[in-house]
Amino acid sequence: MLKRKDLLGLYDVSAEEIDEILQNGMAMKKLLRQNIKKLPHLQGKSVTTLFYENSTRTRCSFELAAKYMGAHVVNIAAESSSVKKGETLVDTGKTLDAMKSDVFVIRHPMGGAPALLAKTVKGHVVNAGDGMNEHPSQALLDMLTMRENFSSLKGLQVAILGDIRHSRVAKSNLFGLKKMGADVRLYAPKTLLPAGLDKMGAKVCTSREEAVEGADVVMGLRIQLERQHAGNFPSLGEYAKFYGVDDTVMKYAKNGALVMHPGPVNRGVELTSALIDGDTSRIEEQVLSGIAVRMAILFLLTKEEI
Ligand code: CP
Repeated sequence: MLKRKDLLGLYDVSAEEIDEILQNGMAMKKLLRQNIKKLPHLQGKSVTTLFYENSTRTRCSFELAAKYMGAHVVNIAAESSSVKKGETLVDTGKTLDAMKSDVFVIRHPMGGAPALLAKTVKGHVVNAGDGMNEHPSQALLDMLTMRENFSSLKGLQVAILGDIRHSRVAKSNLFGLKKMGADVRLYAPKTLLPAGLDKMGAKVCTSREEAVEGADVVMGLRIQLERQHAGNFPSLGEYAKFYGVDDTVMKYAKNGALVMHPGPVNRGVELTSALIDGDTSRIEEQVLSGIAVRMAILFLLTKEEI
């Protein structure tokens, strides 16, 4: 059982709580591998997914996670809801609360929107990605994938390359991995590296090779083309050549180092196609971990009430 009403980010989540989620997530993943998709954990509960931004992986996996555990699920896309008529987030939350939704899973372009919803509603709120702030379930599924492959996160060397500045995935991974004892190195064009990352515990590197040297895991992050109005790098081709992950730079990593990416991937930009589809890629494995870890989150947040 998690000792919190909501999961808004990993900034203030303890190592013990992360461990509990990962342990439960690994148990859920075992069941999924056996194709067991009818569990009683959320029977009689209602889960609402509320997406104000596009999503494939996160929305579908929260929906499937809830359904596999017997919940009633309502999916709301902002585009087709009363949000388009001017309804505020607070009023939308109050309306859904009155309908007895037990859990709200929200993605929103504004950082802090899930925290505002959490103050408004009685139900549990799970942040499914808010602006440039956090994406806790993504980092938890990444950590679950790493832990399955290495048995422990302690001392793991994780290199993250890509659009760190706009990335909620990078922040949640940094908070979570540091708490679990891993070392995190970051590399990106200077225009895509915000100040203060070293104070958050990351090693900020000055070359691809420095970031990847001796790494157990190399994670590419999506270049967020929708947020590149300021011209943060000259072209995608140059980004791929100087900042992307390819076979040349992977030679600096440990033998057999894992290649990961939260998706969606810009093929040939953050990672080469050969690496995405290669033996060391865990990108598809991350997707299965996503359902498992979201089952664990939904179960642990609501467990006390069953
Ligand atoms: N990784 C991730 O959040 O993917 P979606 O945008 O498809 O949910």
